[in-house]
Amino acid sequence: MLVDFRPHARLRSRTPVTVGDSVGPVVEALGASTVDLSRVRVVCDWVQYRQNFREPVEIRPVRDGDPGDDAFELAVDVRRGPEVDLAEATRTALAAHADGTADDGRVLLEDWGPTRHSCLWDFNALYWRELALWEKATGRAYEQALPGGESDARNRDGVRAILAELFAVWDGLADRRALPPELYVVELGVGNGHQARVFLDEFRALDARHGRGYYRRLQYLMCDYSAHVLDMARETVAEHTEHVSSFVLDATRPRSALGFLQFRVFLVYVSNVYDNLPTDEVAHLGGRTYLVESRAHLPAADAAELARSVRATPEQLPGLVHKLLRLGPALLAEAAPGHLDDTDAAVDFWRRTWAAVRLAERYVGLAGLDLYELAPAISGEALRPLLESGADVRMHVSNGAVASFVETLALLHPYGKLVCHDLVVTAVSAYREGFRGPGKYDGSVVNWVNGPLLAHVGRRRGFDIAYAPFAHRSGTNIVTMTAQVRD
Ligand SMILES: C[S@@+](CC[C@H](N)C(=O)[O-])C[C@H]1O[C@@H](n2cnc3c(N)ncnc32)[C@H](O)[C@@H]1O
Repeated sequence: MLVDFRPHARLRSRTPVTVGDSVGPVVEALGASTVDLSRVRVVCDWVQYRQNFREPVEIRPVRDGDPGDDAFELAVDVRRGPEVDLAEATRTALAAHADGTADDGRVLLEDWGPTRHSCLWDFNALYWRELALWEKATGRAYEQALPGGESDARNRDGVRAILAELFAVWDGLADRRALPPELYVVELGVGNGHQARVFLDEFRALDARHGRGYYRRLQYLMCDYSAHVLDMARETVAEHTEHVSSFVLDATRPRSALGFLQFRVFLVYVSNVYDNLPTDEVAHLGGRTYLVESRAHLPAADAAELARSVRATPEQLPGLVHKLLRLGPALLAEAAPGHLDDTDAAVDFWRRTWAAVRLAERYVGLAGLDLYELAPAISGEALRPLLESGADVRMHVSNGAVASFVETLALLHPYGKLVCHDLVVTAVSAYREGFRGPGKYDGSVVNWVNGPLLAHVGRRRGFDIAYAPFAHRSGTNIVTMTAQVRD
């Protein structure tokens, strides 16, 4: 039996956990069972997100394709260890696994598949589409859930530093008469537009001092897949209307609407978006490579209560949930008046469903990394150097971020730059030490971004990629990534 205790820093924290308390009861329960212990991995994480997709103890089958395959991983959330009887939870999970009753009473919302295709991303999109309804119900703005309680992209010193570099590049080009008439800046994933507002205000102020008329030539393109978010952002930057246009687009395919800007954009600005894009996870365990497949469900007790609250049976829940994801709460209330009296009731149903959603997981052997499409036209081979870099590891693939990143690089002017503030894992070893998602931020999903993978993909395309801790707020986990054409 292999025991992988990832949050070892917690052993020395101010309120330390002990291996004895968190792993002891689990291993004892395993020892008292009849399972083949040579086929078991115990994995301990500290799931820092209070809202997440996991039970404190879970079993994840490992499928290598061999008939009679019975290996599994037993996953423990060490943070919640003191709240539950870990030995009992382990016994219950083992018994359900052995009897094949783990799914009994659960309401399944989908079939097994790569996590990037899970309906959790439909919940995520619904949240941004219907943000006003959610925020009205919670009385809380989405920014409050971000690290630091507001977007670091609002930080004026941070923006001034970006602008100083941008203006220096433009001065150089202008001196050589090589500066195009239109100066394009693209922002992907604009939220409420406050960071755009800070950018534009600071830009105008710096330009007034600088005196070379760049503000007059500025074209700031705000892009988001939520029309509601774009409306909100447009209002926030109303003072700068003449210099702003907005595009409804999927950040994973920026070229779909911005293809006309190939090689023309001087700055692509992204904050707190890559960690919100669909991702798979892969693992390298005992010399084999696996894709983590997941399946969203509602636990039996939550499903029973939720069903009662909307005058439904648990069996009717998947239909209602998928209608909610397709139509949104207002139309759902109209389409299902027998279950929901009005939009507020539908929003309540949405919030309670989201709070209850769990993701069961299993590991499925990958026939070959070359057969796994990481992003359009990017083979899973790009993962090999990271997966085979040492001990067992499980990591995010950041499929959406990689796709977005690659298409974005193609938009950049030869002197252009991508600046991205986000939660980023900057070394593969960090995956062996901490939990990096998925977590729930209000109604949205967060997964840290695989920095080494983005760097690998970017460098192969001739770009310099750099990571630095966000320089303008101390103690933050936010990292600033920059990408620009290699000199
Ligand atoms: C956490 S907010 C960040 C907003 C802002 N950049 C900030 O730093 O406060 C994430 C934003 O990304 C947008 N977004 C998420 N997934 C997207 C996608 N696939 N395509 C386009 N926009 C997306 C959301 O609508 C939302 O506006």
